[in-house]
Amino acid sequence: METRVIYPGTFDPITHGHSDLVQRATRLFDHVIVAIAANPPKAPTFTLAERVAMARMALEGLPRVEVCGFDELLVDFARARGARVILRGLRAVSDFEYEFQLAGMNRKLSPEIETLFLMPAEQYSYISSSLVREIAALGGDITPFVHPRVMQALLQRLGKNHEEIPKTGRQDIPKRPAGNHEQ
Ligand SMILES: Nc1ncnc2c1ncn2[C@@H]1O[C@H](COP(=O)(O)OP(=O)(O)O)[C@@H](O)[C@H]1O
Ligand SMILES: [Mg+2]
Repeated sequence: METRVIYPGTFDPITHGHSDLVQRATRLFDHVIVAIAANPPKAPTFTLAERVAMARMALEGLPRVEVCGFDELLVDFARARGARVILRGLRAVSDFEYEFQLAGMNRKLSPEIETLFLMPAEQYSYISSSLVREIAALGGDITPFVHPRVMQALLQRLGKNHEEIPKTGRQDIPKRPAGNHEQ
């Protein structure tokens, strides 16, 4: 029987860390479904359609990988797609608490589905989508972290935002503290 894994997340946007995990998963499973959550409570920077399109660009050429959006309960979506394994990434100990809770809850909801954790290559272990967005917004170089076309999309989005901000008001924009990013 074909083995399938589902890799859920917000992917706002997809980074080299996410792609590294997808690549590892293709060596373990016949079919990898990258499932991008609509996730309105997180108020993503990119729309679901944009996040799906960027993930497809970044993962282009990887065999047996499919990217889709979803807005239902993850375990229901996994079951409907015939996946018995949920893939999540662990970058550092700080990821553990949230991932532990999520895996436990998904197991309670659907005991026949297992959560599997993979670690990215060391050089990707400190990348998060939120940090990449923040660095890009402050003019930093994000080429080591995302696919070139994802970078283009991000800069375009930020450029558009800058145009919407009146020049005189720029100094008044409160900066978020650097540490205040999602896990
Ligand atoms: N750089 C990375 N390396 C490995 N795994 C990562 C990386 N960035 C995110 N992940 C993992 O990918 C999954 C999806 O992350 P993310 O897109 O932030 O969505 P979510 O909103 O579910 O956290 C999570 O398990 C997260 O730990
Ligand atoms: Mg996250």
